[in-house]
Amino acid sequence: MLDPSTDEIRNWGNSVIQLMTNYLGDLRDHRVYGRMSSREIRGRLDSTLPTHGTDFDGLLKVFRETIIPFSRQNAHPRMFGYVQSPGTALAAFADLLASALNANLTVWRSAPAPVELERLTIDWVRQILGFNAEAGGLFVSGGSMANLAAIATARQAKNRSSARLRMYASSETHFTIAKAAALLGIGLENVRHVAVDKHFKIRTDDLVAKINADVEAGDIPFCVVANAGTVNTGAVDPLVEIREIANRFQLWMHVDGSYGAFAVLAKSARGLFAGLEQADSIALDPHKWLYLPVDVGCVIYRAPETAQATFAHDAEYTRIIGEEADEAFAFWDYGPELSRRFRALKVWMLLKGVGLHSLGEAIESNLACARYLESLVRARNDFEMVAPVELSIFCFRHVPSHLRSESPQAIDEFNERLLIALQRDGSSYLSNTTLGGRFALRGCVLNYRTTLRDMEILLDDLRRVAKTLPTSV
Ligand SMILES: Cc1ncc(COP(=O)(O)O)c(C=O)c1O
Repeated sequence: MLDPSTDEIRNWGNSVIQLMTNYLGDLRDHRVYGRMSSREIRGRLDSTLPTHGTDFDGLLKVFRETIIPFSRQNAHPRMFGYVQSPGTALAAFADLLASALNANLTVWRSAPAPVELERLTIDWVRQILGFNAEAGGLFVSGGSMANLAAIATARQAKNRSSARLRMYASSETHFTIAKAAALLGIGLENVRHVAVDKHFKIRTDDLVAKINADVEAGDIPFCVVANAGTVNTGAVDPLVEIREIANRFQLWMHVDGSYGAFAVLAKSARGLFAGLEQADSIALDPHKWLYLPVDVGCVIYRAPETAQATFAHDAEYTRIIGEEADEAFAFWDYGPELSRRFRALKVWMLLKGVGLHSLGEAIESNLACARYLESLVRARNDFEMVAPVELSIFCFRHVPSHLRSESPQAIDEFNERLLIALQRDGSSYLSNTTLGGRFALRGCVLNYRTTLRDMEILLDDLRRVAKTLPTSV
């Protein structure tokens, strides 16, 4: 098993491809999710410490009979929960090849061609976003790590004082920003939560007021975070205006585009991202709206030398000797990790294999699905929108006629129960959020398989499942 013959590798590969083909072939017929318990799954897994090996068919059987049916089917066209990409067959092959080669992208000499491929792919991402030619970055595990690397760089670039540092982000900002501030020792209490308007975008008057108050108190404002697609509602903050405020107060401008920034590829959304290319750094997630399987996030710095000042470390055991400048390149100078997977291969295969034109069309179609859902909800009187649709996230709730005269709390409780029942039913999957203190059903279209018809099925599923709930609230 440890060192299989070429015949064995071929046989294993054929079995895996057969399984994958069957799985993806009838995905629509699977339930997205169902009722399952930790105990039931543990009961199916042989927990004995394996002193002797098992043949490959035995391993694959566990994957087929336990892992697949007891997983949420993230590639299903009606998986609308969270910000979940479906993955693609192309990227699954890329991951297989990357693991077969087992390149470790620390420095150029460790993986010359893979490092060049990552630099090339990062440059394509830079061009997609419209950043200047000097901008650069690297792939990381996800948006969390990209935000952490960017905030670390912001602090390094702006921290020239022993006074208290302050950073600013709207109250709708993803928790990974506050987490980065906590981990970096900036302190949770120094992340100032700026108010949002009725579209859930940052209120720049409140931003300026908070900065002024902090300056007056003798604190040092150093960074403002703008959202290019909030996780709750998909709101894109006014980027040009935020850049102007950042310039005025000499702040680092970081954009969290983990969910939304690749929507710049869709013509109908492009205008929302004007000014994005002026950010000092941006966090992106190809494992969200480039449809790739986890994990691959990305951070781009407008001036990568600032990141170098943050992350570069020298040690005798890693000293690069006998290389020219290009070949002395080290990714560890630009991010927190040393050993790094060959994540670039799947991004490169996707961009090169699918092309920006088709990717833009797929994203456009996701946007159209969310807008269609909104139009259906607005046209019916048994559903109501809780936030406007900006990108592909939709927040709404079900208010059947018998609930219309009930209290807001009763409607919230009903929708909470409805959400759990929908998830257990398995035909469609939504997640939840709270907006303005009210519970909301929340969906996000992030799958090239999702169609307008799926949005109609979602509403029908909700109505059908709602009828099975007790009517008393
Ligand atoms: C806006 C935003 N920022 C950051 C993150 C964190 O990204 P990741 O899960 O890739 O670490 C998410 C995840 O959904 C997100 O939506």
